[in-house]
Amino acid sequence: MGDYTNMSNYYDLIMTSGYYDYKKIVNELIACADFKNVLEIGCGTGLIIEELASRKNDIQITGFDLTQAMLAIAKQRLNKFDHVTLEHQNVTGLKLNKEFDLAFSYGGVWYFVMDGVNEPFLVSHIYDEQDNVNGLKRVADHVQKNGHLLLGVQGPHRDYQSPITNGYMYSQTIQPIEHGFTKHYFLHDHDKKLMEQRIDYRTYSMAEALDLLGLFGFRHQATTQALPQFQSFVKV
Ligand SMILES: C[S@@+](CC[C@H](N)C(=O)[O-])C[C@H]1O[C@@H](n2cnc3c(N)ncnc32)[C@H](O)[C@@H]1O
Repeated sequence: MGDYTNMSNYYDLIMTSGYYDYKKIVNELIACADFKNVLEIGCGTGLIIEELASRKNDIQITGFDLTQAMLAIAKQRLNKFDHVTLEHQNVTGLKLNKEFDLAFSYGGVWYFVMDGVNEPFLVSHIYDEQDNVNGLKRVADHVQKNGHLLLGVQGPHRDYQSPITNGYMYSQTIQPIEHGFTKHYFLHDHDKKLMEQRIDYRTYSMAEALDLLGLFGFRHQATTQALPQFQSFVKV
């Protein structure tokens, strides 16, 4: 179910070595919709929220995450902001006493894979089908009518290894399984293994994803960009 405890101590190091471009992500987030109350689904260590909160102080930002160790880092990072709230929750049972005009997930629970050539598909950190249904229902219950859901876009997954800034070696392997794939993440300091994490991801074809999101009133908004940072949905 997408637990990042093993990676948490190294997450920022790996991500800020170029895995994600947080400025670009937030540029597009801000351009996608007008919002005053925003929810990040699977906020991890709070890197996106930090960028967003420092650029917009006239909004309220809530982030939640399943992994306590990731959230502990986010709390330290974000306690300087009065307009940020963090919650320890699993999306499958999400309960916040608030509605949002924008909910988004970037590399969090759900994201799309696009390469500009092949049909895009949806990836979920949750392998179980019913848990995905429950999670999307919980998200929909927290998004107000005409509000937006933005799901991040990433490039295709592949096996690779790449040195990160301090000389450690990050690597990942992908293995197909019945309804998706298993991803193994590793971090090595020369021969010493510092971190290993394994997650089973479920995948949905674009048609299946649109049907699933449509069940909860999320209607896809077409974009003219070939490789956007987000796929956008409006709650009708
Ligand atoms: C790749 S990280 C992305 C973190 C952050 N959005 C970022 O861009 O750095 C994925 C995060 O999703 C969280 N996650 C996975 N499954 C979840 C679930 N069922 N409910 C809440 N959070 C979940 C993990 O704990 C992890 O922190």
